Amino acid sequence: MLGVCYYPEHWPKARWKEDARRMRELGLAYVRIGEFAWALLEPAPGRPEWGWLDEALATLAGEGLEVVLGTPTATPPKWLVDRYPEILPVDKEGRRRNFGGRRHYCFSSPAYREEARRIVTLLAERYGNHPAVAGFQTDNEYGCHGTVRCYCPRCREAFQGWLARRYGEVEALNEAWGTAFWSQRYRDFAEVELPHLTVAEPNPSHLLDYYRFASDQVRAFNRLQVEVLRALAPGKFVTHNFMGFFTDLDPFALAEDLDFASWDSYPLGFTDLMPLSQEEKARWARTGHPDVAAFHHDLYRGVGRGRFWVMEQQPGPVNWAPHNPSPAPGMVRLWTWEALAHGAEVVAYFRWRQVPFAQEQMHAGLNRPDYAPDVGFYEAGQVAEELKGLKLPPPGRSPVGLVYDPEAAWVYEIQPQGAEWSYLGLVYLFYSALRRLGLDVDFLPPGASLRGYPLVVVPSLPIVGGEALKAFQEAEGSVLFGPRSGSKTATFQIPPELPPGPLQALLPLKVVRVESLLPGLGEPVEGALGKYTLGLWREWVESPLEPLLRFGDGRGALFRSGRYLYLAAWPSRELLEALLGLLAKEAGLSPRPLAEGLRLRRRGPWVFAFNYGPEVVEAPAPEGARFLLGKRWLPPYEVAVWEEA
Ligand code: GAL
Ligand code: ZN
Repeated sequence: MLGVCYYPEHWPKARWKEDARRMRELGLAYVRIGEFAWALLEPAPGRPEWGWLDEALATLAGEGLEVVLGTPTATPPKWLVDRYPEILPVDKEGRRRNFGGRRHYCFSSPAYREEARRIVTLLAERYGNHPAVAGFQTDNEYGCHGTVRCYCPRCREAFQGWLARRYGEVEALNEAWGTAFWSQRYRDFAEVELPHLTVAEPNPSHLLDYYRFASDQVRAFNRLQVEVLRALAPGKFVTHNFMGFFTDLDPFALAEDLDFASWDSYPLGFTDLMPLSQEEKARWARTGHPDVAAFHHDLYRGVGRGRFWVMEQQPGPVNWAPHNPSPAPGMVRLWTWEALAHGAEVVAYFRWRQVPFAQEQMHAGLNRPDYAPDVGFYEAGQVAEELKGLKLPPPGRSPVGLVYDPEAAWVYEIQPQGAEWSYLGLVYLFYSALRRLGLDVDFLPPGASLRGYPLVVVPSLPIVGGEALKAFQEAEGSVLFGPRSGSKTATFQIPPELPPGPLQALLPLKVVRVESLLPGLGEPVEGALGKYTLGLWREWVESPLEPLLRFGDGRGALFRSGRYLYLAAWPSRELLEALLGLLAKEAGLSPRPLAEGLRLRRRGPWVFAFNYGPEVVEAPAPEGARFLLGKRWLPPYEVAVWEEA
């Protein structure tokens, strides 16, 4: 279940054999290689040099290791860029981005699509049936470094075609975008520009369509590679490594073409970049915020339709966050176990050895640049040892379904209406509250069946399509909708019946005004559920329903109609814990508020406990529980597993 990312091209050949042997001895099974190696695989146009990769594969296979082969399209070589300069992407400010980093290509470029098809074909022809190759990773982290949205002439042309296919008639586009406003009317699709560098903000419908288009382009680029691999590498899996806290592309759509999803887990780097207070960041600086990895394990398990890998696991300090502390002792092991508890099939560390040159020389590996093992090496080895005695049961379905919509992130990015509004921030708030109650969560895209979930949370779903509405109608448990749900039509307009639009079929209420509040401007709410102070966002609701919570001015803040609930405000942590605790109890679940740094996760009958905190905590295991790993009293950064009856 463990693996590592390895770059044989960075090391003397004389070292490869020993590297492979030590990987095997450590207990690793998978090695991902090749994802940035284009210039070495094809040093000159049309003159591939397979020798070194043949040898690297043979060396790894010689130790019984299985290989995940990356397609090298994240790094087109210099000769290719010089031959087709138009493949370079253009940023929002209209500047062409240069060769010398990575991801220097435009997803719409016909020349680049052809080149990508060509190199993937060559790679698959050579290694598609190689016995040591278990499967392929397409490209690397689509969208990293802000590359989903390109503003080049090829993208403009492709966008115009995309719009023509979507709207058919330009009049339909004018209607959908409301171009009567500010004289924006178009006479032809060919008149539509990319939405950037405008004097005032661009039209939000225009932006939303452009974001959809850009995400679709990535999917099309990926699919082109998948098609080649399916044809030439039958029986080998195809995956892609997605990123954390990244919303520029729709991973659910892209993963429809993959066998499973993978993602790259860097808990410390993410924690430093999250919108947390300085105090919180400091508290979790060496462990990562306790929900950061779990959030993405659950998201990408959903994206992968139940199957996911961690393709890159942080092994020590990284190089790319504002600050890069060393993980607390034991954290590399804890993160690995947490991924496995959430259903990861494989956890691969990034990387085997810290490289002493180039951009990532300050990024730790399992081994140091002087070839000696580093801290992460021993922690990975410990997990490998522990795994030997255990056969993990298959992960089951979680009791709570969380509806997650990549498009929602785009809507709020386009019109936040309050500076602090963040879709991911809101989802994270809901997710953390559930985890602090010890509840497991499945992420579901809008429209997925909600049957069988005793509790469903929808932190916010601005655009409610027909499929999503149907799924809500067919849900069997309670469904809690957060603020701004149903607040936009599919073309980014206010619904004629006012928000929550189609959700009015479930909840008799109408949002007649919304307001964003300055940070620190709290509004008291009170009712059956207690007393809270809410900030950042509130709505004015007209409804015949008797509210469960009221604002100080008497207006309702929380409504319920049968199994549907609507929260007309940005929730506080305290309110969410109380409300979700209540709904979970009603649903027959047993929520249990956990100590600050303690988290739980079930995998079949096994319960895993993780202590992210600096104090000893007690695992909430029943009397006489049989511990498979660890013990009831968990020291800091420790893991325990017991079996539940
Ligand atoms: C990932 C990327 C890797 C490496 C790593 C460093 O985003 O996929 O290639 O750059 O970060 O943490
Ligand atoms: Zn472009």
